[in-house]
Amino acid sequence: MSKPIVHILALESSCDDTSAAVLRATVDDEVPQVLSLSVQSQNLVHQKYGGVVPELASRAHLANLIPCIRKALEEAKCDLSDIDFLSATQQPGLLGCLLIGHTAAKTLSLLKGIPFVSCHHIHSHLLSVFIEHRPAFPFLAAVVSGGHTSLYLMRDFEDFEEVGVAIDDAMGEAFDKGAKLLGLGFPGGPELDALALRGDSRRYSFGKVRTPGLRFSFSGLKSEFVRIVNREGTNLHREDLAASYQSALCDHLFEKIELGLRDFGVDRLALVGGVARNSEIRRRLETARLKGLINQWHAPSPQYCTDNAAMVGVLGFRKWKRSEFSDFSSDVYATSRPPRKKAS
Ligand code: KG4
Ligand code: ZN
Repeated sequence: MSKPIVHILALESSCDDTSAAVLRATVDDEVPQVLSLSVQSQNLVHQKYGGVVPELASRAHLANLIPCIRKALEEAKCDLSDIDFLSATQQPGLLGCLLIGHTAAKTLSLLKGIPFVSCHHIHSHLLSVFIEHRPAFPFLAAVVSGGHTSLYLMRDFEDFEEVGVAIDDAMGEAFDKGAKLLGLGFPGGPELDALALRGDSRRYSFGKVRTPGLRFSFSGLKSEFVRIVNREGTNLHREDLAASYQSALCDHLFEKIELGLRDFGVDRLALVGGVARNSEIRRRLETARLKGLINQWHAPSPQYCTDNAAMVGVLGFRKWKRSEFSDFSSDVYATSRPPRKKAS
């Protein structure tokens, strides 16, 4: 007899990407299959400010969310009556932005009488690797995004631990700020990546970042970047600076990754989050594999690296399997908060 199938509608609105996805799974699956993913970027809204403006981001989510949901349902050839449960990002992120997606999930839940689960944005990124790959546990996962840089030891889908974290700027933030100083577009990471392809990374030297253990710090490299720009003035070679800076950021990331792999005795690695799209990072991962430092590495394809609702559907499914539903009193949080204990 065939196993019952569930359909999930997932929503993501933690920062500046509005996204909806439909996923399908049989109840025994470990990970659901993505049927559709719709993402509406807000780059045009924020680019003239050179960064995300929270109030404008919330308003754009309001305008974009329903068209995104419609598109995701249409592409999946579903309608709301096919959906068995909803999954939405609850934390961390911009409060006004989180509220849009999370409240939409609550509203649909109320109207359709279907349950909803609330998801942690970083944990969704962590599980994004399972959309297309099946890394064997245990493995080390690096979350590199615009707001976060951390290392996690993944022992199982639900058994993971943050073992390293940035003490100041996230890696994506360092990319974005460097790009802004070079007058590149928003978000700057992909543009700096493209510019660096045409540069010589040996031209400008950056000091080695010295932080204890598995702590990341990218703000010193950013300050050195500013000093070089001021020192060089009109002699500045932009492509070479982009390449040198990107290389210094990657040196720091990979030093900590290698330390983490050694500390925990694992040889498999996953890289997730927007910055995992970076071409230098992907080149270095392959070099590390060829050198035998890593046995296997996995990174999602680009649309699952940057913020997307498909990853929220994957985490939502794992929570649904354990009946971790939210109720209508559930709130959103700007920072990471432990799940509330049920009253006994
Ligand atoms: O995961 P994400 O979409 O949002 C957060 O949760 O923060 O990551 C966005 C970040 C931005 O900082 C963006 O510049 C960076 O990912 N990014 C890149 C590249 N593509 C996106 N950074 C470096 N190279 C890229 N190719
Ligand atoms: Zn993110």
